[in-house]
Amino acid sequence: MTLSVRRARTNDVPSIHQLLDYYAARGQLLPRSPDELTEHISSFTVINEADNLTGCAALEVFTEDLGEVRSLAVRDAATGGGYGRALVEEIEHNARTIGLRRLMALTYVPDFFARLGYGVVAMNTLPEKVFGVCVTCPKFRCCDEIAVLKHLD
Ligand SMILES: CC(C)(COP(=O)(O)OP(=O)(O)OC[C@H]1O[C@@H](n2cnc3c(N)ncnc32)[C@H](O)[C@@H]1OP(=O)(O)O)[C@@H](O)C(=O)NCCC(=O)NCCS
Repeated sequence: MTLSVRRARTNDVPSIHQLLDYYAARGQLLPRSPDELTEHISSFTVINEADNLTGCAALEVFTEDLGEVRSLAVRDAATGGGYGRALVEEIEHNARTIGLRRLMALTYVPDFFARLGYGVVAMNTLPEKVFGVCVTCPKFRCCDEIAVLKHLD
């Protein structure tokens, strides 16, 4: 079966939305609306297998050197197959290409990120994220996610 890691297209939005919604309903990811996904589609990488969306991830840029792996999800039935790693590695490649030197994530699966070289950091070491973006999140005052960070150079 052909595995394709590629930039997302606007016609991937319904499948990305469905995949993120699946995990959002289980409290594992924040939901994103189709309109928001369309607006940010150029930041998304997807994996397709036999024309079906198997996984997705997005790169969000905060500052000249800091970016975030966001909206990382692999279809439940496909987990454990190396797709999550492939997506994060592609996001890291994209991040390096545009000059970022640090990549962070807020996550409930720090052990997955540890396998990829990310270390746990205190949330307040990432003010660019916490005060720029998190303040608008409904979970801002009760955030239970763990911040992880990797230096790309
Ligand atoms: C987390 C997630 C993206 C992992 O995707 P995956 O395709 O199963 O991951 P991979 O198969 O590429 O695993 C890569 C490595 O991480 C490990 N790993 C995967 N999931 C793990 C977990 N939940 N806890 C600890 N380690 C994990 C694997 O064993 C593998 O280790 P190895 O390379 O040393 O053998 C996927 O389970 C998912 O979509 N979860 C729900 C949404 C979510 O939590 N997203 C993250 C938001 S930040």
